[in-house]
Amino acid sequence: MQFIIDSADTKAIRHCMEFFPVAGVTTNPTIISKEKSDFKQLIAEIRSIIGPDKMLHVQCTSDTADEIVAEAQALKAIAGGDFYVKIPVSAEGLKAIRILKGQGIKVTATAIFTQQQALLAALAGADYVAPYINRLDNIVSDGAHVVEEIVTLFKMHNISTKVLAASFKNVEQVHKVSMVGCPAVTINPELFDQLIYHPLTLYAVDAFTADWEMVYGEKKILELLK
Ligand code: G3P
Repeated sequence: MQFIIDSADTKAIRHCMEFFPVAGVTTNPTIISKEKSDFKQLIAEIRSIIGPDKMLHVQCTSDTADEIVAEAQALKAIAGGDFYVKIPVSAEGLKAIRILKGQGIKVTATAIFTQQQALLAALAGADYVAPYINRLDNIVSDGAHVVEEIVTLFKMHNISTKVLAASFKNVEQVHKVSMVGCPAVTINPELFDQLIYHPLTLYAVDAFTADWEMVYGEKKILELLK
């Protein structure tokens, strides 16, 4: 299963890269806008932080197939490395996906809310499809169930496209999609920290330290093994 950083905050990306087993970075126009910085430089900086082998997903901002294709080509030139253009699902978007696949540019179909959107994007040639979990949960749908059915559909029809679940607000949502076989999630940096947080873990470590220090004081293992 792949964990991806859903952020364009370079400090947060550095933090996640240092401590977590991440497969890359996803962005969208909202995430990029939050940084209020030069777009071209920001993409180049993110690439330099993550290196050429990690995935970098950047979303197009046009809505006609021809413009989406032109943006994807330009973005690939700037982003370099393992690049994916994110394209929201629409008729023009599906057309663009087909053209870009013919050109060897990898695509993530995004802003997905239904199983059939995901299926059509996959058949058009998308490498990943990105359903929005929290936004589905917010409308009394069930994000994890939508993911489960997309995963099943892809398996049933022998489709190699992967599900990249997005829009998470809590640990439970991430856990639920991982339990239905979702191969990839993209989550914000704060949620990475929450995924490994548990008060009983901190309590256990404090107790280990206290017991150790009763016998060995401040001395650590390396000092005792000298
Ligand atoms: O990658 C898409 C995702 O960032 C959307 O998340 O939190 O705006 O629903 P959110």
